[in-house]
Amino acid sequence: MSILVTGCAGFIGSNFVHHWLAGQQEAVINLDCLSYAGNLQNFATLKDDNRHRFVRGDIGDRALVERLLSEHRPRAIINFAAESHVDRSIHGPGIFVQTNVVGTFNLLEAARGYWNGLGDADKAAFRFLHVSTDEVYGTLGPQEPAFRETNAHAPNSPYAASKAASDHFVRAWHHTYAFPVLTTNCSNNYGPYHFPEKLIPLIILNALAGKPLPIYGDGLQVRDWLYVEDHCRAIRRVLERGRVGETYNIGGRNEMTNIDVVKTVCAILDELRPRQDGSSYATQITHVKDRPGHDRRYAIDASKIERELGWKPQETFETGIRKTVQWYLANQPWVENVTSGAYRKWIETQYA
Ligand code: NAD
Ligand code: TYD
Repeated sequence: MSILVTGCAGFIGSNFVHHWLAGQQEAVINLDCLSYAGNLQNFATLKDDNRHRFVRGDIGDRALVERLLSEHRPRAIINFAAESHVDRSIHGPGIFVQTNVVGTFNLLEAARGYWNGLGDADKAAFRFLHVSTDEVYGTLGPQEPAFRETNAHAPNSPYAASKAASDHFVRAWHHTYAFPVLTTNCSNNYGPYHFPEKLIPLIILNALAGKPLPIYGDGLQVRDWLYVEDHCRAIRRVLERGRVGETYNIGGRNEMTNIDVVKTVCAILDELRPRQDGSSYATQITHVKDRPGHDRRYAIDASKIERELGWKPQETFETGIRKTVQWYLANQPWVENVTSGAYRKWIETQYA
């Protein structure tokens, strides 16, 4: 038995592969095109593990996906592959439409063809799990209730719009073709292997390098943070027990302002790797121009997955963020590898 998982050279996908293989023997076919965000180093420790097979390729390459499906006969597909960074989607939305919308459509079509050809028992057991984001729901006022699965999609960034579109295709494939889909909408993740264009790893690395810690606008935007391994556990739970056709929101009930997140990271670094001049890393905090259309608040109501599937996060923000900072301090070669020329060019464009 095997599962086909896309986008596993990225942040959450690579954490998922490690989590999956630590828990069972079932093989993972890992399909990833190695965009700027894909990093083979994320599974260097799996080099000799024959339960993991890496294939470089695009989810939009229908012939390739069809070949992989007929060769490996997976019992499920989990789709992590995406362009995932809001700021990049503002600079260049086209690739977001290509990968997140057209790519997901092609993956769905290849998967539906494979599923149609399965015998009755395999057909009944097959699942297509689409990994999505809370950003499809738009933004919340300070007093509004957290996002539920019944909230309408109201995406505000090109990234969120492309993910919302992909969610709609997945939903329609279930309603029209009875294709057995599951969708998860998760809040902001953090943890190991997080590419340092995103807030938390960017802050850790900039702090250590003595660079400014850029806070967009007033820094009072709120995100609901979840440790990545808790997200991986939730996905496994939805895959095994989720009701076909349903959507599950996943979140840590951990709302924090960006400025508080950054101050927490600074305090942990002050303790674990104090600055030589004795002052706090918080002195490096710098307010910069706000992100256009910046969503003010995200919050997830995770009561459906808690109630129906018995999932709950195991980490608090305090335990998860400490583990994360420790991981970055202990994995300097990984950091040096990802901060390549392409990455430096991005930093110049975004923070010029
Ligand atoms: P990431 O950018 O770190 O990784 C994405 C991976 O997808 C990369 O390895 C990249 O090479 C691969 N990829 C991109 N285009 C591809 C294509 N056309 N074909 C094959 N592979 C392709 O992203 P992430 O943070 O790990 O997010 C994974 C998924 O989870 C995304 O779908 C994202 O929308 C969703 N999500 C992320 C978060 C978060 O906080 N990071 C929260 C909720 C949901
Ligand atoms: P990010 O990690 O890009 O995730 P998302 O936009 O998907 O929520 O950003 C998290 C929050 O941090 C978001 O409100 C934007 C803010 N932010 C900054 O203030 N400075 C930065 O340099 C970055 C990258 C993000």
